[in-house]
Amino acid sequence: MNSYGAEMGLSWRASFDALRSSADPFVLFGSWLAEAKKTEPSDANAMALATVGTRGLPGVRMILLNSYSADGLVFFSHLDSAKGAELALAPKAAAVFHWKTLRRQVRLRGPVEPVEDDRADSYFASRPRASQLAAWASRQSRPLQDRATLINAISELESRYASRELPRPPHWGGYRIIPLHMEFWINQPSRLHERLLFERTSSRAAWSQSQLFP
Ligand SMILES: Cc1cc2nc3c(=O)[nH]c(=O)nc-3n(C[C@H](O)[C@H](O)[C@H](O)COP(=O)(O)O)c2cc1C
Repeated sequence: MNSYGAEMGLSWRASFDALRSSADPFVLFGSWLAEAKKTEPSDANAMALATVGTRGLPGVRMILLNSYSADGLVFFSHLDSAKGAELALAPKAAAVFHWKTLRRQVRLRGPVEPVEDDRADSYFASRPRASQLAAWASRQSRPLQDRATLINAISELESRYASRELPRPPHWGGYRIIPLHMEFWINQPSRLHERLLFERTSSRAAWSQSQLFP
């Protein structure tokens, strides 16, 4: 245990042993995320999402993980955003979670597919009305002349949908990353970090495990 680990009451050794005995990276991911939710000051579900841009130039931005299962990791966004355009051209992504309080990261990469409409509808319906209005009003990633343009668009929508439910905008939905690689990383003293890589050749194939040099 390093001094930071001692302060936090964590045992790095114990966590890595648990990590190696896990055959299912989604189970391991779930247990790390649950720990991070207890220790991170905010947004333990935040991840950096990288996509393939035009001419091969990568793009990266933070997003929030909505949910995960053995099928993959789901997030929601504007479909006509820069990331949406990139995912339409190259439906694959890489993502990384970094939990500073735990000194751990999880990296993953794989193909991306759209989330089913009924699922996107029900998640949209569960969001606060202000977020629904913002999703309608924003033309995410497009140039905005001035802030007043956005505020006016919100006011207009408020009047148009006064006392009516807002449907999901056609330009808003979800994506599912289906990881073919998932790497779990734990900080260790003297840069002797521990890395465990899970890989599979398709979403139906079995996972294989290997350790990597730090
Ligand atoms: C912590 C955090 C969480 C975010 N979550 C989301 C999200 O879930 N969906 C989303 O579209 N943008 C989210 N954003 C905004 C994105 O980082 C980004 O500004 C936006 O999606 C436009 O990206 P793009 O132009 O590359 O498409 C989040 C930003 C931060 C800092």
